[in-house]
Amino acid sequence: MKNEKIIDLRSDTVTKPGFGMLQAMTGAEVGDDVLGEDPTVQALEQKTAELFGMEAGLFCPSGTMTNQIAIKIHTQPGTEVICDQKAHIYNYEGGGIAFNSGASVRLLQGPRGIITPEMVEQNINNPDDIHFPTTALVALENTVNKGGGSYYTLAQIEAISQVCRQHQLPLHLDGARVFNALVETGEDSREYGRYFDTISICLSKGLGIPVGSVLLGSKEHIKKGRRIRKVLGGGMRQAGYLAAAGVYALEHHVERLKEDNARARKIGEVLQQLPYVAAVEPVDTNIVLFSLKGVSTKEFLERLAAEQIKAIAFGPDSIRMVTHLDFSEEMLQRLLKVLNEISFA
Ligand SMILES: Cc1ncc(COP(=O)(O)O)c(C=O)c1O
Repeated sequence: MKNEKIIDLRSDTVTKPGFGMLQAMTGAEVGDDVLGEDPTVQALEQKTAELFGMEAGLFCPSGTMTNQIAIKIHTQPGTEVICDQKAHIYNYEGGGIAFNSGASVRLLQGPRGIITPEMVEQNINNPDDIHFPTTALVALENTVNKGGGSYYTLAQIEAISQVCRQHQLPLHLDGARVFNALVETGEDSREYGRYFDTISICLSKGLGIPVGSVLLGSKEHIKKGRRIRKVLGGGMRQAGYLAAAGVYALEHHVERLKEDNARARKIGEVLQQLPYVAAVEPVDTNIVLFSLKGVSTKEFLERLAAEQIKAIAFGPDSIRMVTHLDFSEEMLQRLLKVLNEISFA
């Protein structure tokens, strides 16, 4: 049951399946996917791969797992991964790069987490100098969570991929919220397959499925990935019940992400006018990041909680709100009213 009273903007992972999705799930044809016998999982993997111009897909329990499997596919212990300092793979995956792959990380400082080809080029280690770890992988995130939903255009991605190709480096995408970017740019998702070697797509964020992410890549990469998934304990049996939700979400929940982005933009516009808000990051997709003045994050969140509104602290004086499938127009109006009415002495 969806709770219409509580407005939960802590993340777009909090959504619950609606009637159509639940119907798709209960009607799914399933089998043991570890034995390669679940037709719905196979359909989801194939559909997602085609959507991004890739050869094959691998359904996994989480975006953390799809990212970590990709990193393990591309690296060896002692090699190095280039990513931005705001990257989810570095900040929020429990040190998994070191734990799972024994690799080190070279952190870049792109504005709002968006790195450039020049930055990448300057940070690739000389493979002939034995002092340095061998650079093994470049990883982008689109949209950038910690960057407040900032995104790359295809032209920016293409330029970075050219540098990677010149240095024979694979390029991975953490595409947890890539559809939020695609509905903004209007770009064709199939183009992504030309630039990335592996892509992680989360279905449990903006697309609203209860559990699941898909790793995309060449047949060979996915074959390796399937073995790593098993080792990590991510082989799932009748996972078709979840995969059916994924197929449903790809068919019904992509275009509507425009609404989430528009509602986030509206929240950003209103926040900008409020006396207790110090600054609002540009709102490019469905994430609103803002800092407070004259009130602590704790007090601000408590005041919202008293109105049945949940948000999350994101750093010492900043708040994050994320719009999603279960955040309606009516809830937006109620939120804006509360934000306008509260004041801090
Ligand atoms: C950008 C990004 N990548 C990856 C993940 C990991 O997804 P999961 O929570 O399914 O492990 C998240 C989760 O919030 C995310 O925001």
